[in-house]
Amino acid sequence: MSHEVHGALYNGVPKPPFELSYPDNPDAITDNLMKLADLAPDVRDKFLLKNLITHLHAFVKETSLSSDEWLKAIKFLTSVGHTTTNIRQEFMLLSDVMGVSALVDAINFPPGHGGTESTILGPFHTDDAPDIEQGQSIASEGKGEYMYIEGRVLSSDGTPISNATIESWETDSNGYYDTQYVNREKADLRGRLRTDKDGHFGFRAIVPVAYPIPGDGPVGQLLLAVGRHNMRPNHIHLIVEAPGFRKLITMFYPEGDTWLESDAVFAVKKSLVVKLQEVNDEAEARKRGFPKGSSFKLLQRDVILVPEKQADLKQ
Ligand code: BEZ
Ligand code: FE
Repeated sequence: MSHEVHGALYNGVPKPPFELSYPDNPDAITDNLMKLADLAPDVRDKFLLKNLITHLHAFVKETSLSSDEWLKAIKFLTSVGHTTTNIRQEFMLLSDVMGVSALVDAINFPPGHGGTESTILGPFHTDDAPDIEQGQSIASEGKGEYMYIEGRVLSSDGTPISNATIESWETDSNGYYDTQYVNREKADLRGRLRTDKDGHFGFRAIVPVAYPIPGDGPVGQLLLAVGRHNMRPNHIHLIVEAPGFRKLITMFYPEGDTWLESDAVFAVKKSLVVKLQEVNDEAEARKRGFPKGSSFKLLQRDVILVPEKQADLKQ
């Protein structure tokens, strides 16, 4: 039981039931930590903690980390924390630029299930994407060049999936998400719709543009300091879900962008690069709901979901 000691709160955990040596040299410090990690009640927590201690301590020892370097790292992480708000996730951005998000995705969703490949979520997903009907637009007027995106959601055996949810979000043609504008009143360039009885979906959006990930915070400074650019190739985000199927988080990347091979966050997979067709037909533009002009880009692509049972078997 926790209780106060001289007015401060002692958490009540007793001394470890084994001897620890005085931590007066590097290896004794690591040994003590490893012994203490054995007290963690959850087996997976214990495994993760022991691995973390092993690699973290090895990093400090192998690099002979200086006190100044350590302090610089603490200040950097503090700044990452201070920059994070309810609509700006600088920690996620740090994970993204360090390739950790891409690694977690690659390990958890290896190819070979026959489904559309996944990629990272990124820090710009929100919970307030509005519901739209088939054929409607996720973008308000004037946000960029028109694009229509359509296809079917299918199971990996080819069966159409009706009533699947498709959520999509992208930047405007200036490369900014709605959440990056200080005067944001409601969601824009975001929407959620359901497939029809034959698994079809279709909605209006804008042609994605390449954009820089936020460079005005500590993660941006880190990239500059190590000589890395902060560009992402053009893409549109999708989350596709249906009961009984593994949730798919992915992006489509229209081909031809110069940043495809050097994405700042390592999130491009070859199978996610798509073709855009140019349509120049006024009647077709009206039919698809575009309010003006006669041309738009067409992205046609089916999305394949993997049944949960099949996904579990192969993991
Ligand atoms: C994005 O695509 O929205 C994104 C992903 C990782 C970092 C920054 C942005
Ligand atoms: Fe994005």
